[in-house]
Amino acid sequence: MSELRVLTGITTSGTPHLGNYVGAVRPAVRASLAPGVQSFYFLADYHALIKVGEPERIQQSTLEIAATWLAAGLDPERVTFYRQSDIPEIPELTWLLTCVTGKGVLNRAHAYKASVDKNNAAGNDADADVTAGLFMYPVLMAADILMFKAHQVPVGRDQIQHIEMARDIAQSFNHLYGEQLVLPEALLEASVATLPGLDGRKMSKSYDNTIALFAPREHLRKQIAGIVTDSRAPGEAKSCEGSALFEIYQAFASDAETAALRQAYADGIAWGDAKQMLFERIDREVAPMRESYLAFMSNPGQLEDILQAGAAKARRLATPFMASLRQSVGLRKLGSQSAARSAKPAKASVASLKQYREKDGLFYFKLVDARGRLLLQSLSFESPRQAAEAIALLQSQGAAALPTISAQIQHIEGVSTEEVVQALAQLA
Ligand code: TRP
Repeated sequence: MSELRVLTGITTSGTPHLGNYVGAVRPAVRASLAPGVQSFYFLADYHALIKVGEPERIQQSTLEIAATWLAAGLDPERVTFYRQSDIPEIPELTWLLTCVTGKGVLNRAHAYKASVDKNNAAGNDADADVTAGLFMYPVLMAADILMFKAHQVPVGRDQIQHIEMARDIAQSFNHLYGEQLVLPEALLEASVATLPGLDGRKMSKSYDNTIALFAPREHLRKQIAGIVTDSRAPGEAKSCEGSALFEIYQAFASDAETAALRQAYADGIAWGDAKQMLFERIDREVAPMRESYLAFMSNPGQLEDILQAGAAKARRLATPFMASLRQSVGLRKLGSQSAARSAKPAKASVASLKQYREKDGLFYFKLVDARGRLLLQSLSFESPRQAAEAIALLQSQGAAALPTISAQIQHIEGVSTEEVVQALAQLA
């Protein structure tokens, strides 16, 4: 399938605020509804461990962020929504990638370099308080992206370098082991606003100027009352330019509503009234989501089930792909066919499922290895659709589907189960 695959991760280290919502959650949920796009959203909790050493906070943030995305309308049936640490193939791929990544490349990563520069400026050892986790951050992120063959990765500006590194790492891997990893591209959404915070600087946890997305109504009102304004009195005309209040309003309002506030500014609206308008406008959008958020928060078991289903869906792709990558780097069963063969083992080891019609008018499929050797043969099906369904099951679940369709397949003499399982893990 040539669907566009879009993937993005959210580090589970904080509580979502309005800036996250406007800048990341809302545009992502909208984008996930586009036709012809296969989206992957995941909770990057392995990444969170790099910054956060408090287990309770990791768990709480994972809960809050999962509840936020679902409350904001992400449909787990439509997209693949999972938790990074539920996919053991990701750390496994991280190691394969680590082995083709230049240490010098990681030395130049912005986040690591910033820590080193800070240490140097303070006269400390260059690597003081720098964990190997921080150093390796870009490789883990590359594994997240490459595991699911993502074409596009929507990210903020600060993450562009990481996507470029993922490309370089994929290229090194492909050069050595054959073309298997898809080279991703960063997707910078020009239209997405960065929201100012209470003090007018960019809304960010590090400035402590955020407005919580799902605070109770009265708390939201209080926080909005705290937005910095100038000292113009009621009746005096006010400037939209540089007004954090105006910018936040604009991020929620329609063009007509924005024009009305602009007029009110010109007419000298009192700051208190402008804040009331902003509060009402935000609450109008947030209130229904808040209700759903609170329902999820009080039912973590339900969230866990959704994440488990998402992980199973993700692993239907990750498990066979990882098996094939293991083959290609030489982590193989001894005595398997591809040992001691061509220079591009990955390509040579690809197996395929073929559907066909016999003279008897019935439908069949077979599994063959790269050299055309027959490994598995189906019995007859009345319709092509039935054959296709069995094939789809094998493609999505690999060897795990064998018991389900055991009544419809025939084993071939001289072919071991192990060979069939391996071939199913390497389907073209
Ligand atoms: N590093 C990203 C951030 O801080 C989060 C992240 C982890 C991510 N893995 C990813 C984003 C893979 C996109 C793709 O925002």
